[in-house]
This record gives sequence, structure tokens and C-alpha cells, in this order.
Amino acid sequence: MTDQELAIKIRGLKKTYGAEGASSAKVALKGVDLSIPRGSIFGLLGPNGAGKSTTINIIAGIVDKTEGSVEVWGFDIDKDVRNAKANIGIVPQEINFDVYFTPFEILELYAGYYGIPKAERRSDEILRAMRLEDQRDAYTRFLSGGMKRRLLVGKAMVHNPPILVLDEPTAGVDVELRQHIWQYVRELNNKGVTVVLTTHYLEEAEELCDEIAIINHGELVICEKTPKLLKQLDEKMVVIHPVKPIDEIPQDLKALGAKLNDEGAMVIHFSPSTITVGEILKKVSATDIEIADLKTEESDLEDIFLQLTKSKEV
Ligand SMILES: Nc1ncnc2c1ncn2[C@@H]1O[C@H](COP(=O)(O)OP(=O)(O)O)[C@@H](O)[C@H]1O
Ligand SMILES: [Mg+2]
Repeated sequence: MTDQELAIKIRGLKKTYGAEGASSAKVALKGVDLSIPRGSIFGLLGPNGAGKSTTINIIAGIVDKTEGSVEVWGFDIDKDVRNAKANIGIVPQEINFDVYFTPFEILELYAGYYGIPKAERRSDEILRAMRLEDQRDAYTRFLSGGMKRRLLVGKAMVHNPPILVLDEPTAGVDVELRQHIWQYVRELNNKGVTVVLTTHYLEEAEELCDEIAIINHGELVICEKTPKLLKQLDEKMVVIHPVKPIDEIPQDLKALGAKLNDEGAMVIHFSPSTITVGEILKKVSATDIEIADLKTEESDLEDIFLQLTKSKEV
């Protein structure tokens, strides 16, 4: 993929938060590379503390990086701050607007901040898109949690950026609002907006994203197109030690992709969603191979995944 096709390009990104008071220095990112294609919905998936917010806060220019380079829509965040910021809208994890303004005032304020002339502002259009037109002139502090979250998204879209970044957009929201946010993300993407979202819900990344990067402990674990990633996560392995050495793998087992390893054991990789261990064993017992010992192993990735899904409850 050429650089012109990338919305965001990250190379060798490192971040260490400095020691402060009683807390020692904290390494949050250990050298992350990411290439986020234009037009995609890209998911940054990982458990709490993985470094997701740090990554996107660096992209947004909210947190200073320690090392590495970041380009937003082709603009280096160090060399061309203005253009980098103009091309991205960030929806932070925490609500960060002054609740004594009305939604309309907040959008106007930000439009002013971005230097958008009055005639070109889209505050009412954004409020409609966010289904907040009825709350246009209400004090923001009286809005429900869901409405505040939608206003945050609206605020990030004020300057019509080609990239929208959402940090845990559905953490702690109810099912109905989650569906609503997902729908809106899809709508924006259909209009051509590149969406980057962080999440610790596998289900969310699976549902929405074209491509998923998993990070853990400040390191990139894997980055793949969603269907390919899911396929890999589904993989298991069975190792069969035979009583007598196997000269040649029977055709039926060859068809399953069975191979002999250095120890003369037969190794079969399989997807639990397509075939069970029981079914594999049936095929083995139909041959003249006698089983001395057998074990199944999950791929490392699946372990990581298990960890990730466990942290769902956190
Ligand atoms: N301002 C900060 N000062 C010190 N450490 C921080 C700060 N922000 C985040 N961290 C640490 O950096 C690591 C990554 O955090 P974060 O990027 O917020 O992860 P995530 O968003 O994936 O949950 C965590 O260990 C966290 O405690
Ligand atoms: Mg976070």
C-alpha cells in the first residue's frame, strides 16, 4: 500500500510516561507500527492498559511521544501540526466539554476554534445527525450519558475531518445506544470517513471493523483484515504420537492437512468451528495407526484472545 492510500501511518512509536511523585516511569508503547488504510473502519483492540488511548492521544497531538513517527493524512505530526490536526477528529474516552453551554453553543465554539467562518458552519446539521436537535438549546449538563457521548462525536466532526477516531465509544453504554453508535459509525464510513476505534470488546471489533490490530502491553500482537484474523484465532492443533512409526500418512488424514513432525508424531491443524477433535480421532481410528499419546494445543494467539475476552468484564 502506498503512503497516499494511508489515513494514518505509525512507525516505531514508543511512549514512556515519566515518573511522577511516588509512581515510577511507565512504558506504555514499545515500538508500534501501524498502517491504517483510507476509507476503512480500523479497530485497535486490546485489554485495559494495553496502550490504546496512549496511541490515539499521540495521533491527536494530546500526548507527546517519546520516539517514532506519525503521519496523519500524509502530514507529519511534528513537522506539520496544523494540517495533521485539521485532518482528524477525536472522540475521547472521557467527556471533556463545559457542561454549562448548550450543545449548539459547544459546536459553534469548536467551529470558531477551527477558524470555520459562520456561513460554513454545520452545527444544526451535526445536531440532526446526532439526533440531538431537540436538545439544541438545553444545558449540556442535563443531557443523558448517551446524549453527551453523541455530542462528543458531533464535536469531533465540526471541522469535517476525513478521519474520525473514537476511543472506546461504547464502553459502559447500554445495548441500545451501542447499536446506535455502531450504526452511526457505519453511516459516516459510507460517506467516506475513515474511522479508527479502540475497544476491548472483541465482538465490537468483529462487528464493525474491516481490519483489526491487537495490542497488548504496548506491543502490536497482530494486524490483519478481520476475516483472516478471525480464522487464525479459530485455529487449534492436535499432536498424535503413534505406537509404531508412521511410514506414510493415510489419504484421509492427508486431506485434513496431517503432517509428521521431527519426532515422528502426526500434527493436524484444524478449526474447531469446522471439525471437532472427536471427528478427527474417528478418522484416525479408521486407519491402522494406533495412538500411544495425544494432546491438543491452542495457538498462542488464541491464548491472547482468551485473555482479551476475559478482560471483557473489566
Ligand atoms: N498519564 C499517564 N501517566 C502515567 N502512566 C500512564 C498515563 N496514561 C496511561 N498510563 C499507563 O500507560 C499504560 C497504557 O495506558 P492506556 O494507553 O490508557 O491503555 P488503554 O487505553 O489500552 O487501556 C497503562 O499501564 C497506564 O497505566
Ligand atoms: Mg483507553
